[in-house]
Amino acid sequence: MRVKPIALVTAATKGIGLQIAKDLATHGLTVLVGSRNLEHAETAAKSIGAHARAFQLDVTNQASIAAAAKRIRNEFGRLDVLVNNAGMSHAGKQGISHAASLDELRSVFETNVFGVVAVTQAMLRLLGEAPAARIVSVDPSNPQRALFGSVCSPSKTALDAPTLAFAIEFEDAGANAACPGFTSTNLNNFEGTRTAGRAA
Ligand SMILES: NC(=O)c1ccc[n+]([C@@H]2O[C@H](COP(=O)([O-])OP(=O)(O)OC[C@H]3O[C@@H](n4cnc5c(N)ncnc54)[C@H](OP(=O)(O)O)[C@@H]3O)[C@@H](O)[C@H]2O)c1
Repeated sequence: MRVKPIALVTAATKGIGLQIAKDLATHGLTVLVGSRNLEHAETAAKSIGAHARAFQLDVTNQASIAAAAKRIRNEFGRLDVLVNNAGMSHAGKQGISHAASLDELRSVFETNVFGVVAVTQAMLRLLGEAPAARIVSVDPSNPQRALFGSVCSPSKTALDAPTLAFAIEFEDAGANAACPGFTSTNLNNFEGTRTAGRAA
């Protein structure tokens, strides 16, 4: 019998993350639906189907990340796919350089850069147990970054560095960034030109 691959999607309750989770489930994966709000994760998991599981996961909280990794080890023993989808575009108002405080920048970097590194590091051993592990970080492509303002864009540019480092270090596993296109979600006040359904 074919063993179902296990995928963890961070922030999979809405927008691009929910669509990625649905698509992975349609392709036969067991999907671990991450959200900082467990009830939201449970609702999303129900909407995805019988092979989805809700996980409380705040990518800026080390205890939450460690608890998720421990639960994945206990219940599945490995992780085949990690999708680093959780992200924020600003920590107050949509950022223009002179208006954004350093605290706002730090807060966005905490989620979009250090959150990705923290979750990836915590899952590396589990990914190492999978026969062909994949790490994907959701990231706008360079031409798109102008659309994301001067708080989000620098954080996503900074995210390229650890993504590349993981790609070099784990060449066999495969670590990549994927751009969904300018997609209509809460992140951009639904101004994106694509729908999450088509984007993922
Ligand atoms: N929309 C676009 O055009 C576009 C283009 C390129 C890349 N992206 C990237 O795609 C990803 C998904 O964004 P989206 O457009 O689908 O926006 P979205 O609907 O606003 O989703 C963002 C998700 O990130 C979650 N999140 C924020 N901080 C978190 C944390 N500390 N821990 C766990 N989850 C956290 C939010 O959780 P809550 O529900 O709890 O608030 C929300 O579910 C982001 O990384 C974004 O940068 C988007």
